[in-house]
Amino acid sequence: MFEVSQDKIDFYRENGFVQFDDVVTPGKLEELREAVGDVMAADSERSTGQSPNGAYYKVLNQKVNAWRDSAAVAKFTLHPRFAEIARRLSGADGIRLFHDHALWKMPGDSKPTPWHQDMPYWPMNEPGALSIWLTLDDVDENNGCMMFVPGSHKVGKLAGINLVEPQNLFDYAKGTGIDQTKPVIVRMKAGSATFHHGLTFHYAHANGTDKPRRVLAVIYMPDGTTFSGRQHIVTVDTAFREGDLLKGRMFPVLAKR
Ligand code: SIN
Ligand code: NI
Repeated sequence: MFEVSQDKIDFYRENGFVQFDDVVTPGKLEELREAVGDVMAADSERSTGQSPNGAYYKVLNQKVNAWRDSAAVAKFTLHPRFAEIARRLSGADGIRLFHDHALWKMPGDSKPTPWHQDMPYWPMNEPGALSIWLTLDDVDENNGCMMFVPGSHKVGKLAGINLVEPQNLFDYAKGTGIDQTKPVIVRMKAGSATFHHGLTFHYAHANGTDKPRRVLAVIYMPDGTTFSGRQHIVTVDTAFREGDLLKGRMFPVLAKR
């Protein structure tokens, strides 16, 4: 099985995020760019409702469960190697897919992705879920790279932030010792990735360039995670009741101890 160094695991547990360089080879990366591009271009119900004229589109042009539309994307989303990294980082015995999404930050009047935690949006009772954020383009502050606040995953679940008209996440973190002034900016080459914990404070810069910033993110959850009852785009068509195990064909186990 794929090895993840103890240093990476320790870094993730301490800081709530960790970077892995060159996780996809240049050939595979080109395949993935093409496949995600096709999914984005197709008119499908998996867009999260935003129109190019809408405010959300300036933050993110997003397509959920791209793996359902493309075998080439599914190869990445379901890949045991990335899921195994997620499993090792989280310490879980098993890892399930929650969903994937293509996250493009479009050029032209681009807005940053405001500081937020992911977990408040997810319908899970237990913590532990995490994301891989694989960049298909080189990223820096000019086109939408991410920033993280180290250790912020330790403060617990705060309010869900409206990504279009954001509240200030740090207002909810008063007294926790979280230091807003010391975010870590993660610039990366295409084909590299970060993993971040569902409670880690993160932000992505606006895209001031003339090309989309293309990212594929996959959200993993520990096997055993239960449904909170709060509806989410990927659970609305399911019969889960509060407290049920999140499982089934939309949420396959991807890695096991
Ligand atoms: C982004 O890609 O702009 C944000 C990603 C995230 O919030 O996880
Ligand atoms: Ni996020």
